[in-house]
Amino acid sequence: MNRLALFGGDPVRVKPFASWPAFDEREERYALEVIRSGRWWQYTLGEAVDAGASSSAPSKVAEFQRRFADAQGARFGIACASGTAALEVALRAMGVGPGDEVIVPPYTFVATAAAPLLIGATPVFCDIQLETLNMSPERFEQAITPRTRAVIPVHFAGLAAGMDAILDIAKRHGIAVVEDAAHGHGGTWKGQGLGSIGAAGIFSFQASKNMTAGEGGLITTNDEDLAEICESLIWGGRHAGQPWYTHYRLGWNYRLTEFQGAILLAQLERLAEQTARRQANAGYLTDRLRGIPGIRLLETPDSATGHAHHIFAFGVEAKEFGLTREQFLEGLQAEGIPASGGYAHSLFRNPMFLDPALGVDPEKYMALCPNSERACQEMVWLEHRLLLGDQDDMEDIARAAGKLHEARWEFEAAAHAGT
Ligand SMILES: Cc1ncc(COP(=O)(O)O)c(C=O)c1O
Repeated sequence: MNRLALFGGDPVRVKPFASWPAFDEREERYALEVIRSGRWWQYTLGEAVDAGASSSAPSKVAEFQRRFADAQGARFGIACASGTAALEVALRAMGVGPGDEVIVPPYTFVATAAAPLLIGATPVFCDIQLETLNMSPERFEQAITPRTRAVIPVHFAGLAAGMDAILDIAKRHGIAVVEDAAHGHGGTWKGQGLGSIGAAGIFSFQASKNMTAGEGGLITTNDEDLAEICESLIWGGRHAGQPWYTHYRLGWNYRLTEFQGAILLAQLERLAEQTARRQANAGYLTDRLRGIPGIRLLETPDSATGHAHHIFAFGVEAKEFGLTREQFLEGLQAEGIPASGGYAHSLFRNPMFLDPALGVDPEKYMALCPNSERACQEMVWLEHRLLLGDQDDMEDIARAAGKLHEARWEFEAAAHAGT
């Protein structure tokens, strides 16, 4: 067999994978429409069209938020500057604030825990399930205290969290559920769009996400009053239909520009086809990786009907595979497969939490969240763009992983040769 590329052999792959962002003439056309219309910001609040708008062109942001909410099966969509902003706004609109606790998983991007902190609340971490990388409902229930006001299940990688149990526990304890669907564009739970299940959901359109305008975010909800408050918070505390310089609550300027709205409209038109392609390729790759000793594939519960596959993640169990995760990553990259280890550590280990004022005790959580700790050491992530290619691309990934297992002895041989 060909030697490992890391030690001088030919790599499995030299071609690049699909690039991201994907775009075509639609992004160009819609963006050009915005430039030429002179309507560069939304300039509408609620249904009211302000008479002072510099152009009568319809708002791209207004159209996008309506169409995206529709696609996810939510009644309302409120676009905003980022996924982080969306979390802050959704939590504050529900009345979460100083003195409150918000339960979050530790295997997620910092925003899930930063958003509660940014509005004066305290994040409380509960462990994940190793099989799905999503919040453990049992651990969620154990983390509840009289101060708990909200829970943020993350649909990690685009796989629906265990919403049956989470909703049931939240209901029994009077806790609001905010779905973090930053990875979940086009994803479903029991056929229902992610973000339309809890009291509110949030999405991100930052550059790495399955739909992007470089940056951007959106809140989904079925609750009209909540939608109104979210919109008001994003518009500096203004209210639809009320005088322009009258501000009803302390708000942010978290608006999305019309340029971003234009790009996102085009991206949305491609989402269903791309999601189907990611799902087909992920299914194929899963089958091809099955059976390689030491590769631990994640489970997809029946309720997770539509995986958005923002990330294709799997574990490398060092003992069974015969290589550490770091060796595996180094070897895989040398074979021409771009991969990463994802989160370097559980969220609570971030240096920011050394500040006692944030009220998070990392040591306590190290003991409470062993699955998150293990996931940070074992996981391998492939970006969603790799799933936008064809079956040959999946073959290359699987062949590279298989080659590493078969030739794992080369690592030891190289280490001996070097000593
Ligand atoms: C799980 C999760 N939640 C929230 C966010 C925040 O989104 P944004 O980067 O748009 O603020 C991200 C972004 O990476 C994320 O991965």
